[in-house]
Amino acid sequence: MGTQRTALITGGASGIGLTTAARLRDEGFDVVIADLDPNAPEVAAELGVTAQALDVTSVEAWERLGAALDAAEVELGALVLNAGIAGGGTDLAGLDLERYHRLMRVNVDGVIYGLRTMLPRLARPGVVTVTASLAGLMGVPADPVYAMTKHAVIGLVRSSAAELAAQGVRIHAICPGFVETPLLGAAKAQLDAAAFPLLTTDEIAAAIADLITGRSTAQVTVLQPGRKPVDYAFAGIPGPRMLDGAKAPDLPTELNLG
Ligand SMILES: NC(=O)c1ccc[n+]([C@@H]2O[C@H](COP(=O)([O-])OP(=O)(O)OC[C@H]3O[C@@H](n4cnc5c(N)ncnc54)[C@H](O)[C@@H]3O)[C@@H](O)[C@H]2O)c1
Repeated sequence: MGTQRTALITGGASGIGLTTAARLRDEGFDVVIADLDPNAPEVAAELGVTAQALDVTSVEAWERLGAALDAAEVELGALVLNAGIAGGGTDLAGLDLERYHRLMRVNVDGVIYGLRTMLPRLARPGVVTVTASLAGLMGVPADPVYAMTKHAVIGLVRSSAAELAAQGVRIHAICPGFVETPLLGAAKAQLDAAAFPLLTTDEIAAAIADLITGRSTAQVTVLQPGRKPVDYAFAGIPGPRMLDGAKAPDLPTELNLG
């Protein structure tokens, strides 16, 4: 690790994270990939970046990583919370609780622990991207628990962006459709058989790099094969009315919900 701006990428040893590591290295970042894959150091060496062992589900592992970054006097400029797994099963009545908890720990706790540990270390201005998914914006009958975890992180990004912006931190969610990576598992052959187009990791890495080097915040970027990235616009929510039908007053800005 050097003293340049560093980008920390969880799940950086494979797929989207790996290509993003190469892309951010090319953008001039000192890249650290943080992954539990034992091949991560070798993969990182091939890219000319650094690897740190991290299981995103472990608070202690995050603290160790934080201490290692502190010791190396790293200036952390970008945090890419990307590690994720799929495959929670579809039978809710017979849900395999071990798989369920694993999915929640990696996809949800991993993002929360990452923010909790790294926000205090992130330079100002700084930027965070969370790799969500289209599964965070639509129902996915093939993997409802995965969809739940991705809806959760999008809600977190949207809810925290204003407060973080006040602290000089931008935060975004990236929502790809199917990307050609090992995460697809057996679905890859099914998608191929159906001639379903897949995104490349290059397309996702480019979108992440654009968010990191840009100026906006709270972007939820949708990526679909054959289309340019779309800054997703959520439908408006009907506002509250008074009993007589008049417009309700604005919500207090600093609402204390505990
Ligand atoms: N591939 C897709 O179609 C697709 C689509 C939308 C979103 N995503 C999301 O993109 C992200 C990256 O997935 P990918 O497709 O590149 O998959 P991938 O399997 O190629 O890479 C995931 C990486 O995360 C690492 N990882 C898993 N659990 C971890 C943990 N507990 N701690 C640290 N690292 C861990 C793995 O070792 C691996 O290197 C995930 O969040 C995934 O949900 C993928």
